[in-house]
Amino acid sequence: MMLMRLPGLLDGDSLARAGEWLAQGPWLDGRTTAGTQAAAVKRNEQLAEGPAAQQLRHLVLQALERQPLFLSAALPRRVLPPAFNRYRGANNEYGAHIDQAIRAHADGALRADLSCTVFLSPPDSYDGGELLVRQGGDELPVKLDAGDALLYPASTVHRVAPVTRGERLACFFWVESLVPRADERQLLFDMDMALMRLRQREMDGGNGESAETVALTGTYHNLLRLWART
Ligand code: NI
Repeated sequence: MMLMRLPGLLDGDSLARAGEWLAQGPWLDGRTTAGTQAAAVKRNEQLAEGPAAQQLRHLVLQALERQPLFLSAALPRRVLPPAFNRYRGANNEYGAHIDQAIRAHADGALRADLSCTVFLSPPDSYDGGELLVRQGGDELPVKLDAGDALLYPASTVHRVAPVTRGERLACFFWVESLVPRADERQLLFDMDMALMRLRQREMDGGNGESAETVALTGTYHNLLRLWART
């Protein structure tokens, strides 16, 4: 799957509350949670376990459940508890790395199919700090508005450019999809989006859903039945 932006995952109210909890900390050295290869290039801080982290996780998970774009694109089976990081001062970058394929989850091992970063700082409040995702020979720089998220394949090499002014706060987590294969997931997403627009157009036309739209919706669900691993 290509990179996908989820605009306005967190609204202004949620961002304000998140800001208060993030200010509480406490913050730890980010290397404590990285694998060996990643730890060598990781220079950031991570929010320690505590009341602030709990509240923040709840806020993000609730927002995800209300995001149709996330649900359609990720087809989530399980989501790892969101974590929070901070880049500033001497702890200001994360070099090129790939996220671990398998991560520990309360219900056993979780396969990370998708990575997600929620930007929490206004982009004009810091310099640098782009998320750079390698696609073929290029690195695509991503720096989104506060509250927006980027969903991208966990299989990609990526890094966070050094923050040279201000601080960059973000939330990150991994998703195990019901559909492990990215190409199958992409086909389902494209079909779901087209069907949504078609259905909307037919509803606006006042004659209700056509038999063809109903049939294609059935095909979507039958493909999902074929490809999903529950
Ligand atoms: Ni990463």
